[in-house]
Amino acid sequence: MTEKDYSGATTSKIGKNAKTSQNPKEALAVKPKKQKQTMKTDEYSNKNEEEGQAQSNTENYRKAGEIAKKVKEFAKTLIKKDEKLVDIAEKIEAKIIELGGEIAFPVNLSIDDVAAHYTPTLRDEKLASGLIKADIGVHIEGCICDIAFTVDLTPEKKYTELIASTEQALKRAVEIVKKDKEKTTLSQIGRAIQEAIEKAGFSPIVNLSGHGLDEFDIHSGLTIPNYDNQNAHELGEGAFAIEPFATLKIGTGSIYEGAGSNIYHIVKPGQVRDTNSREVLVWLVDNKQALPFSQRELEKKFGTRALIAISNLKRAGIIQEFPQLVEKNHQPVSQTETSLIISSGKVEILLEP
Ligand code: CO
Repeated sequence: MTEKDYSGATTSKIGKNAKTSQNPKEALAVKPKKQKQTMKTDEYSNKNEEEGQAQSNTENYRKAGEIAKKVKEFAKTLIKKDEKLVDIAEKIEAKIIELGGEIAFPVNLSIDDVAAHYTPTLRDEKLASGLIKADIGVHIEGCICDIAFTVDLTPEKKYTELIASTEQALKRAVEIVKKDKEKTTLSQIGRAIQEAIEKAGFSPIVNLSGHGLDEFDIHSGLTIPNYDNQNAHELGEGAFAIEPFATLKIGTGSIYEGAGSNIYHIVKPGQVRDTNSREVLVWLVDNKQALPFSQRELEKKFGTRALIAISNLKRAGIIQEFPQLVEKNHQPVSQTETSLIISSGKVEILLEP
């Protein structure tokens, strides 16, 4: 998933203290589920424990990447003209589970001028067509691999070059991170993306960006621009998603927030009176924490009473619906995304673009 970026700079979440106060998962006082515990004996120093945890996280990110790779290949075979979006999304999500992963966020299937953030409902009649983006998130114990690709379903394949531009932009960005590692600046990445897209004759979407990834947190820390925003901030260590978006030159190169996406997340702790909504909320806190979830998923779990719970939780300000992100001139948008980790001076691309 992407991040709408108003500032063109880093988000206010940078810095451990700022993050603690804003992170809903901490505000909810829910501990991330971790099955694996690092071995604890008196001889083990904190440093060793931290290294052990870092290592198991690295393993989890790798596993998430391996699953994402298989799911991507599978998804490509599903995305055909006039297939129902709901069938595609359901099959992709089932595949993630089948391969031993967990769903980090509902599969986004966004068409044409919708750049991102649409997932079908169970009764959705929408069919695959036009320029379609699949944005898929896999997590293992909270370690997320966020990837996206675009398929041209137009009969004349008129968006081949537009898609190639975001693929090329992502490749360039990844090359630069591989070279400069934690010292890579946001400006360098943005410039590489912008240059690749403009060279191909298109415009980057400047108010959508890549982002930091944290355990059970899809948007943490950094905002990674799709144009040169002159920000000299260095990536540092951690997990990141880079996701160039491009549109035609007659587009504005920016998006607005449109209708609802059917994708929600918990934004603040809170309580609701009715037992139905409370039951749904407890399940969300236990199973999703701050991760996005879909109306579809809740309805499969709780039946139609999930819809009442969603509306109550929304009214109470506990959950929020992501808006669809739509190109301002209604021009088609292409997206390509991968995730990577930088740790101990090494870069690992979870899924090579
Ligand atoms: Co993303």
